[in-house]
Amino acid sequence: MSKVSIFGLGRVGLITAVCLADRGIEVAGFDVDEKKMAQIARGEAPFYEPQLEEMLKKSLKTKKFTVSDNPVQVIGKTDTTMIAVGTPVDRFGHLNLTFVEEAAKLVGKAIGKKKDGYHLVVVRSTILPGTTLSTVRRTLEKASGKKCGEDFGLCMSPEFLKEGTAITDTLKPDRVIVGAYDQKSAAHLEKIYREFYGENPPPIVTTSLSTAELIKYASNAFLAAKISFINEIANICEDVESADVLDVARGIGLDKRIGSQFLRPGLGYGGSCLPKDLRALLRFAKDADLDAPLLVGVGKVNDTRPVRATKLLEKSLGDLKGRNIAILGLAFKPETDDLREAVSIKIVKRLLRKGASVKVHDPVVEKQFREIFGDRIYYSNSAVDCVKNTEGAIIVTEWNEYTHLKPKDFTQHMKKPIVIDGRRALNDPEWNNQTTVQLIRIGAPSKDR
Ligand code: UDX
Repeated sequence: MSKVSIFGLGRVGLITAVCLADRGIEVAGFDVDEKKMAQIARGEAPFYEPQLEEMLKKSLKTKKFTVSDNPVQVIGKTDTTMIAVGTPVDRFGHLNLTFVEEAAKLVGKAIGKKKDGYHLVVVRSTILPGTTLSTVRRTLEKASGKKCGEDFGLCMSPEFLKEGTAITDTLKPDRVIVGAYDQKSAAHLEKIYREFYGENPPPIVTTSLSTAELIKYASNAFLAAKISFINEIANICEDVESADVLDVARGIGLDKRIGSQFLRPGLGYGGSCLPKDLRALLRFAKDADLDAPLLVGVGKVNDTRPVRATKLLEKSLGDLKGRNIAILGLAFKPETDDLREAVSIKIVKRLLRKGASVKVHDPVVEKQFREIFGDRIYYSNSAVDCVKNTEGAIIVTEWNEYTHLKPKDFTQHMKKPIVIDGRRALNDPEWNNQTTVQLIRIGAPSKDR
């Protein structure tokens, strides 16, 4: 069995570590954040992800997963090192490679000290096409004093983990990408994946390093495009007398060439990956003097989604100044406590700018929202408390507990029951043909308004 070290124990690194350990591969982990490492060593997951904590505890107990603050020791014990550090992107799309370079330096130094044996370095971080071949390879060679392709190998193998299903996504991926510097590197990583996936491996696509990097960006850009596409169709449905975007999505999604996933209409995509990866790809294209009108459009459509929510409210309620508005759902999607690039932040900012009073509720997120908005808004401890005395409510995240809300949950408590269902979340049968709430559903027929 292979022995793998992982640099960077964030979402990707830690999840990869416990999954590899679960399948019997020995894993040694390192992170520059000592507090996080201590927490992990105690068996506490530093972020929420279903199954993670129990798998972490198990892997520590069986000693298949160990952590150490000594990179040389961590690498010395293994024949493969995965780099899974963060690659933040600023709002202009500039990628910050500091963490990748620092990690490559540490890994390079440790490889330099290794007396014998071939070592494979695998980049899992999302970086722009060409970066592994240029920056990472050069940094590793300089820090180790060794030569890529002779003394060590180099691969780029992007991850496609979704928050909330990251463990299953790792254990049962649709495909695995092996971008490789040379054949020896590819063969080494393919062997690890075969050990990991056993009898029923997913399709393994072996490519060049830069193609692998681009596959990651192209995947996320395509997913973002599907979402923006269905949101644009939702806008059209809203202007047609009896067209419903959910039926359109179903009707087109059953065509295998289109596929039914990622066609849920809503208030736009958020999270730690889709917005940032699209921005970085657009910046990459711009810097290369390439036109990318389709990708520009994907981002533009997404930027209009939060505006759409407040506009729909204004259409029914008029001026929002002095109005009490409820926001149901803050997390960027259900089943996560993540607020990164969440649409809720943009909507609340807009409402405040328009002079509205805002009440918010989310089943798990509150602390991080308080850090942004402090006491400028009111934090409710239940959906019903949130809509109390308000004149408009917007469902921003389709949490399970909102899907069960009935018309009376709004009529009994709101001053004026106007509800924008921004995620088509309300699905109790009582909503059919009710007239007590003015319900405005994204992408639903205009006759409903
Ligand atoms: C995404 C990619 O799916 C994953 O492959 C990549 O590695 C990381 O980024 P994640 O950010 O966890 O994963 O969430 P995802 O489930 O993709 O949702 C992203 C955003 O799109 C959310 O805000 C979600 O609400 C929105 N979305 C998703 C829609 O609006 N409609 C859809 O049909 C699907």
